[in-house]
Amino acid sequence: MASSTVPELPELPEGLDLAALERLAVDTAHEAGRFIVDERPGGLGVAQTKSSATDVVTVMDQGCEKLLRALLGAARPDDAILGEEDGATDGTSGITWVVDPIDGTVNYLYEIPAYCVSVGAVVGDPTRPGHWRPVAGAVYNPVSGEMFHARLGAGAHLVDAAGQRRRLRAGEVDTLGQALVATGFGYRAEVRRAQAAVLAELIPHIRDIRRAGSAALDLCAVAAGRVDAYYERGLNPWDLAAGWLVATEAGALVSGLPGRPPAKELVVAAGAPLAAALGARLADLMTVAD
Ligand code: IPD
Repeated sequence: MASSTVPELPELPEGLDLAALERLAVDTAHEAGRFIVDERPGGLGVAQTKSSATDVVTVMDQGCEKLLRALLGAARPDDAILGEEDGATDGTSGITWVVDPIDGTVNYLYEIPAYCVSVGAVVGDPTRPGHWRPVAGAVYNPVSGEMFHARLGAGAHLVDAAGQRRRLRAGEVDTLGQALVATGFGYRAEVRRAQAAVLAELIPHIRDIRRAGSAALDLCAVAAGRVDAYYERGLNPWDLAAGWLVATEAGALVSGLPGRPPAKELVVAAGAPLAAALGARLADLMTVAD
């Protein structure tokens, strides 16, 4: 499988059953996904805001993370958990579950059917770029019924709403001019201004742009060849963990700025023939926009 640009990779804990981790990721993502659809209250509103007035949390993000923590904690009590809403809980096994209870919260709030539950099992410290990597994970869109999942070395798969399972392969487009590129924007005004400046320079040179509103689904879209590439600044480990593995196991490359691992400063995911050219172009554009 293609690998990411990561300087120091932690060893896998001895005797690790990757297939069991992948099954647990799939089962918990599925149960949590059903929860956010089935238990959604009428007139759902914003429970709190985070980095800006548009960076919202609903009671369902909070409830879903509690559910994920309960399910993972019951199955594997020695593992650590890092979640978007409740932060980090220590463990002793060498595995950390990095979870986003609803990735695409704004879509969820507006009932746009592009949100998901993202559950990744990682080794290393997910708060230190270059010092962690996902080893199993699942991304579940409970509206489309699509379950994307992967484990290290075993490929990435999509199970659709009808239960059909297929192996994923990232696209083979090799020129920027032919590339359909997904991206996302942060929640803070000054960050968005810089992101928009980069996009304004990039868009004349690519096929087109997509902004779906869920980083985890964007990474899975690269894996499925639904877009040729995805890039974003400002991602957190929970946006990235499971989708990173799904993308790389589908043959895509996931990296950061040229020669660097994926990090808050930049995540670029693309089919292998396109990755270097897009990474280099973004690095140039970001220097100008900053
Ligand atoms: C957000 C989504 C969005 C991306 C933002 C993320 P959230 O996650 O993934 O697509 O552009 O950077 O923060 O807030 O919906 O969990």
